[in-house]
Amino acid sequence: CGIVGYIGDREATPILIDGLKSLEYRGYDSAGVSIHNEAIMSIKTKGRLKRLEERLTEEPLQGTIGIGHTRWATHGEPSDVNSHPHLNGSCTISLVHNGIIENYMNLKEELEAMGQAFLSETDTEVAVQLIDYYYRESHDLLDAVLQAVDRIDGSYAFGVMCHEEPDKLIAVRKDSPLVIGVGKGENFIASDIPAILEHTRDIYLLEDKEVAIVTKEDITIMDTTKQVIQRDVFNVTWDIKAAQKDGYDHYMLKEIFEQPKVVKDTLAPRLPMDQDDIVLDNITLTKEVLEKINKIYIVACGTASYTGLVGKYLIERVARIPVVAEVASEFRYRDPIMDENTLMIVVSQSGETADTLAALRLAKQAGAHVIGIVNVVGSTISRDADDVLYTLAGPEIAVASTKAYSAQLCAMYLLSIKIAMELGKLSKDAFIELRKELYLLPEKVSQVLSQVDDIKALADKYINSKNVFYIGRGLDFAVSMEGALKLKEIAYLHAEPYAAGELKHGPIALIEDNSLLVGLTAHEELYDKTVSNIKEVKARGANVLAIALEDNKDISKIADDVIYVPRTHWMFTSLLANIPQQIFAYYISVGLGHDVDKPRNLAKSVTVE
Ligand code: G6P
Repeated sequence: CGIVGYIGDREATPILIDGLKSLEYRGYDSAGVSIHNEAIMSIKTKGRLKRLEERLTEEPLQGTIGIGHTRWATHGEPSDVNSHPHLNGSCTISLVHNGIIENYMNLKEELEAMGQAFLSETDTEVAVQLIDYYYRESHDLLDAVLQAVDRIDGSYAFGVMCHEEPDKLIAVRKDSPLVIGVGKGENFIASDIPAILEHTRDIYLLEDKEVAIVTKEDITIMDTTKQVIQRDVFNVTWDIKAAQKDGYDHYMLKEIFEQPKVVKDTLAPRLPMDQDDIVLDNITLTKEVLEKINKIYIVACGTASYTGLVGKYLIERVARIPVVAEVASEFRYRDPIMDENTLMIVVSQSGETADTLAALRLAKQAGAHVIGIVNVVGSTISRDADDVLYTLAGPEIAVASTKAYSAQLCAMYLLSIKIAMELGKLSKDAFIELRKELYLLPEKVSQVLSQVDDIKALADKYINSKNVFYIGRGLDFAVSMEGALKLKEIAYLHAEPYAAGELKHGPIALIEDNSLLVGLTAHEELYDKTVSNIKEVKARGANVLAIALEDNKDISKIADDVIYVPRTHWMFTSLLANIPQQIFAYYISVGLGHDVDKPRNLAKSVTVE
């Protein structure tokens, strides 16, 4: 999502709209603005920003203070009412939000019990209702905002305005970016620098748990105990295009580096520390129905289908139900056997892929229960599935999927553990251990990302490879499929993923001097077996790049190069082992001069068969 706010002497609406345009890449399912001029007036619309502009031409909003938002839905499907800004019942307080309020259900129940009426399905509305509640006690906007954020768990960047205090905007953040733009006789707030770069290059970067009171003439930054903080102005030297990519050269690299956050956003709200359970809001599948399930199909296309391979492995191992993972274009035409005792899991970033949707419809006709693992809230698959488990990855712009895949893996981890627990196959104690490990994953992802320079050097070293083989066993085999796909998609190199043990039945004939083999050895149970296969290939002249767990150092005696990833529970190695492959493919593509974000012949969303 994107936030812009303005306070000054100029008309606010055009400034907000221009700002939102430069943030549209951050989310585009709905947009809205609130402008203060005697009262707070708001227009919010579902759909692209263009739609909001049209509404504002029909019904102009005039005033010199305002906030605007472009949304990427996380809770509540895209609709006019779920769009931001959100307002209290009497429309005297307006608020825009980026982030996820993890405890919104509890807060909502509490506020409803006290008589606050809710209009939308969003987590955000809880924030404005809380501020309203405290404001009615104190009649001080700053205090009300501070009291509200004290109650909120999760991530947020808020921009708030209030009819009774029309001389200010309040901005506050935690785990979601927010900046303040310094003007002359005017000031700005924004979730991202591009939104205000046209007006100022002087920026205050707000840190976590800091609040800014922004008036026409002044900006005061303080902590949540109202201690004033002196902050140096940051002068932006990049242009708008670089700024949209947060300074990264490509969206793909930006998205790769967003993965610690994406992993946390997808996992944390579902793993509340005060409950020894996984909380999946939109899953209605009951224990009774689950107990009757005798077969699971996981169906998807492209990268999402490799989430299915990981899911098959995990669910069969921990829940002991047979799972078939298959690409949707095959599944739909082979008259698959399904009935009301079948569970189908469809996985899709866009939620619109034609073959995946067709598979879902077949399953529903047959009476199967369908769970969608989907990134785009309100997409066709999210609406047509019986249940949805959203991956909270945010908009993915690069055609080659990176952060959405990592989020899908996390969703699959949650789902497989949940199914096993419901069926009594996993104890509470075992769950608590797994939860502890899941909480460590974002930091471990960061550790892998910190090796970016080393991985880039390996990409440079192997850039002239013609044939690349990716091999692994078990979960590593699933990961190898994604590694090879990334190299094909963006580097246009021929890459072949193979089950390590199957290599000797054919593909090994293709190995010659200087072939490159990427050997995945993170699935530790099968480590020795895979190492034997790597040796067979090494002996035939191939260069070997291994991906291994941090303390399996002996692999360095066999492989030419090794990328180490942190140790985690065996169920979760796929996430960490895959990330070096993304970076490797990225830098080979860059080195070969390809259009990384828009590779030839490929589309982000394939809505035709
Ligand atoms: C296209 C994209 C792939 C993606 C696949 C499935 O082919 O280029 O990156 O994995 O579609 O898309 P979905 O939106 O269903 O995950």
